[in-house]
Amino acid sequence: MKNVDQNTITQAVLERMGEMPDARLKTIMTSLVHHLHDFARDVALSEEEWMQAIQFLTRTGQTCDDKRQEFILLSDVLGLSMLTVAMNNQKPAGCTEATVFGPFFVEDAPKVALGGDVAQGAPGKPCTVSGRIVGTQGQPVAHAQIEVWQADEEGFYDVQRPDLSASQARGSLQADGDGRFHFKTIVAEAYPIPTDGPVGDLLRATGRHPWRPAHLHFMIKAPGFETLTTHVFRNGDQYLESDAVFGVRESLIADWVEQPDGDTLLNFDFVLNESNA
Ligand code: BEZ
Ligand code: FE
Repeated sequence: MKNVDQNTITQAVLERMGEMPDARLKTIMTSLVHHLHDFARDVALSEEEWMQAIQFLTRTGQTCDDKRQEFILLSDVLGLSMLTVAMNNQKPAGCTEATVFGPFFVEDAPKVALGGDVAQGAPGKPCTVSGRIVGTQGQPVAHAQIEVWQADEEGFYDVQRPDLSASQARGSLQADGDGRFHFKTIVAEAYPIPTDGPVGDLLRATGRHPWRPAHLHFMIKAPGFETLTTHVFRNGDQYLESDAVFGVRESLIADWVEQPDGDTLLNFDFVLNESNA
């Protein structure tokens, strides 16, 4: 097709797509072209703005490496991550809600025995975490695999500290036969998501703060159950209403109770959804 104009180009692009054996890819690409073109028409995108966007995305890619995932961060601050989580994790009432995965999970975290210390020297106030993992009928989920990770009191995950040679404030545990777990760690504090890259520029340009309310990440896996990726948030945090990545769920906020001896106790039970339920 020659001589496309601002109205006919959308159909021209759609017609150019040939046979697609993957029907889902066809659905996604068709919708993407429609929405992208409508967006450009809607804002009357200038060539300078188009180039600015290309340069922004280029910098976003160039900021990524094996420890830094700027594209996930971009998805997070645009609410796309939480939208995808919300659409794909509609569970029966009573199940623990899912929230964003974030960019700081690491495979093969150190194995920690029940009662052991996940902090491994990370700076922060001592905290003891306990709870139980059950199914929707209240049945224990025996020996569930539990991954935990968190920032330290200075607001950094271990992967943000290039000087560190070992993991800190992350670990992999196994619940006991009754679904119960407990471990030592440090008290989670609110922290800003990284702002030294293009996502930080975007937040500043749009008048947004970068803070996440204090939270502890969990990913819980057990055969016969859907994997749960979630956080437990700390009640009273000033950023619970304005999380930079829109991840807060009322049901995930818990009291972290400071004890006279200086320890802080957090108790939280998780309800997993049976798979194929
Ligand atoms: C996190 O909680 O680790 C996180 C989530 C989204 C963006 C940045 C950090
Ligand atoms: Fe986090």
